[in-house]
Amino acid sequence: MKKMKKIAVFASGNGSNFQAIIDEIEQGRLFAEIVALVTDKPDCFAVERAHNHNVPVFAFDPKKYTSKDEYEKEIAFYLIEKSVSLVVLAGYMRLVGDVLLKAFPNRIINIHPALLPAFAGKNGILQAWQYGVKIFGVTVHYVDAGMDTGKIIAQECFKANGKETLTEIEQKIHTIEHQLYPQVIREIL
Ligand code: GRF
Repeated sequence: MKKMKKIAVFASGNGSNFQAIIDEIEQGRLFAEIVALVTDKPDCFAVERAHNHNVPVFAFDPKKYTSKDEYEKEIAFYLIEKSVSLVVLAGYMRLVGDVLLKAFPNRIINIHPALLPAFAGKNGILQAWQYGVKIFGVTVHYVDAGMDTGKIIAQECFKANGKETLTEIEQKIHTIEHQLYPQVIREIL
């Protein structure tokens, strides 16, 4: 029998991508189990989503640790104990450090709301919008020590008609994200 793969999702905010992965699993389209939501923001909406779907939460306050290594050691221990085979960053607003990268080599992925390597870092959609690009898109990539610099796994794009508002562009991008991310996770698993 095919073994159910265990994944952990990292989020710091709204968690709509986390929700899309939950939905895909609950609807039987993604054969995986989310064994942890890891967050550096205990009050973020992603935590509420986790509670609503019985996903265990590992919340930490980075300020209570002396270094990134310190809190990442705790996270790595927690995830290894739960036999996590893939770490999925979904709006996790921190750079991943050495400890997690070594604990999960080539097994940490991220989604970015722009066509990398353009518009890396925070506010990717706004950056692209302000630059005036005509083609917007989404990137899923492996995570390395840099900011949105890891090997690209998948990209999807659309052409703006020039009449959309920023909010409409954001909505289109999130719709693509919610469909692309579970699909890439399925393929990797
Ligand atoms: C997404 O746009 C994702 O690409 C970026 O952060 C945002 C997270 O949104 N990394 P949400 O928390 O999943 O709603």
